[in-house]
Amino acid sequence: RLTGSKLGCGEGGCGACTVMLSRYDRTKDRIEHYSVNACLTPVCAVHGMAVTTVEGIGSTKTRLHPVQERIAKAHGSQCGFCTPGIVMSMYALLRSNPRPAMFDLENTFQGNLCRCTGYRPILEGYRSFTTTDTQLSGCCVATETGGKCCMQASEDAQQTDADDELGLQTPNSCENGCDGPRTNVGSAVNKCDTDVAEGQANPRKQPDARLFSMSDFKPYDPTQEPIFPAELQLSDD
Ligand code: FES
Ligand code: FES
Repeated sequence: RLTGSKLGCGEGGCGACTVMLSRYDRTKDRIEHYSVNACLTPVCAVHGMAVTTVEGIGSTKTRLHPVQERIAKAHGSQCGFCTPGIVMSMYALLRSNPRPAMFDLENTFQGNLCRCTGYRPILEGYRSFTTTDTQLSGCCVATETGGKCCMQASEDAQQTDADDELGLQTPNSCENGCDGPRTNVGSAVNKCDTDVAEGQANPRKQPDARLFSMSDFKPYDPTQEPIFPAELQLSDD
């Protein structure tokens, strides 16, 4: 029994039942992928098409698909009831467009509701698939040319943003992040009176504001997706 796709409303509003349909379009000679609401799609309407549910793209028993892994590690799943539908909307988008823009991402979730997360961690996690962040374009090509990998660059940017937010980059803060009185301002190492011995945790140091790190994510390789069933492509029906 495939119970990953959920019933949230039965009327096409919540997207908890989202699955992907794939069909071979003979007039355009290409395979097309769509996300659909399983609660409203009659089985007799999917003749000749391949249905992919959330169980069909990965599992903790084998290997999670990057779409599943990233929503989990980015804290985009709380109660988890909407998660299979959101995963399948994102998966169908990636199958049609492996490098979407952030705009495409927001559009693709128009039919998915989540009552727990406030949506932000879902979009932040899936931003890692997009080209909207210019640091992400040219992924892994950069390392071959001697530059930084997109993942690394993006992480650096996140750290800088987090530091700015916490005030760690202000000229008055010391290297440990505190802003107490300093005895050696202007010296090569900017230490303050509250600096602790090397190797000891500074109790005043601010916590890391990042909820996840890009390096936690496995890379996405579109060439490793399941193939379209050959019999559906060859059949005349
Ligand atoms: S169950 Fe809500 S859209 Fe299908
Ligand atoms: S995680 Fe609970 S509804 Fe989305």
